[in-house]
Amino acid sequence: MNTMHAMQAPVHSGDRVFAFSILAGLMARRKTIDCKWLYDAEGSRLFDAITDLDDYYPTRTEFAILRDRAAELQTLAAPGCALVELGSGSSVKTRLLLNALPCVGTYVPVDISDGHLERAASRLDAEYPAVKVHPLVADFTAEFSLPASLETVPKILFFPGSTIGNFEVRAAGDLLARLRSIANVSAFVIGADLKKDAATLVRAYDDSEGVTAAFNLNLLTRINRELGADFDPGAFRHEARWNAMKSRVEMHLVSRCVQYVHLLGERIVFEEGETIHTENSHKYDLEQFEALAADAGWNTHRTWIDDAGLFCVAVLTPAAIPEANLAGGPGRRTGDVVPLID
Ligand code: AVJ
Repeated sequence: MNTMHAMQAPVHSGDRVFAFSILAGLMARRKTIDCKWLYDAEGSRLFDAITDLDDYYPTRTEFAILRDRAAELQTLAAPGCALVELGSGSSVKTRLLLNALPCVGTYVPVDISDGHLERAASRLDAEYPAVKVHPLVADFTAEFSLPASLETVPKILFFPGSTIGNFEVRAAGDLLARLRSIANVSAFVIGADLKKDAATLVRAYDDSEGVTAAFNLNLLTRINRELGADFDPGAFRHEARWNAMKSRVEMHLVSRCVQYVHLLGERIVFEEGETIHTENSHKYDLEQFEALAADAGWNTHRTWIDDAGLFCVAVLTPAAIPEANLAGGPGRRTGDVVPLID
């Protein structure tokens, strides 16, 4: 197999990670692209546009829940504590927490999209002079560490947007368990999208304005630009599917015809109708979500749900569990206890 030899220009290690991930995903029998690669500059911009769409209910629903309830977090926020946000994007919901929790002394937004992160962080820095802002460019799906200076600082973790839904159930459990091993966490505020009728779900991921389609197809443009591939984005169409068995919305890019695509010295064949699976967005029942969290070492302190029952924000607190059961410890088998389907 001729893989990296075909690359012309020297690349940064981050670029090599991207190249290997894309190549491995497209050479697999069932083609996939990890959804984290959706968020280049243009993808982050398109995602922000999605959050404003009528068809995309999660953002406004979660926003309203946090607006109404964030003050209840005060009892869990220690003076001078740090707010650590995973997948912070444009940090829109962050303001609700910072406004409700004046005792927060440090804000640590963690995101994979560096430019987007820097801009959002400097805007927040200007708006909240009393809060130290420490942006961290990191892929939290891999190992990442917080600044050592925060080790002993009490922390509130914030993981909104139902981004947890983008992980397979087992990987979601692993991530929650890994977050459980962060020291001095007083609360973990996490958004989870709830199960509902398929039509509403599919509409949210295949909106009438075509923004989600552009978001998905932008992956191909990104791969062309960054890896010198020759995808014709017009030869693919966006599709959102409800997978009832796995309780998730899937995004696919469907090949409109038989075609070849070249990248990094490889020729990849697409059959007509063959897809690249680009995202999963799992939808939970409250009970399933609480069980997933419990298995990862979290107690459910509160759950906040909108009147229409669309979306849940859960406030978790660390359960007292033996060290040996934490992520990476001996004997831990995340995923064994909480099958989503049976
Ligand atoms: C990243 C979890 C907020 O899965 O709903 C939106 C990404 N993909 N439309 C989701 C997304 C297509 C989104 N989150």
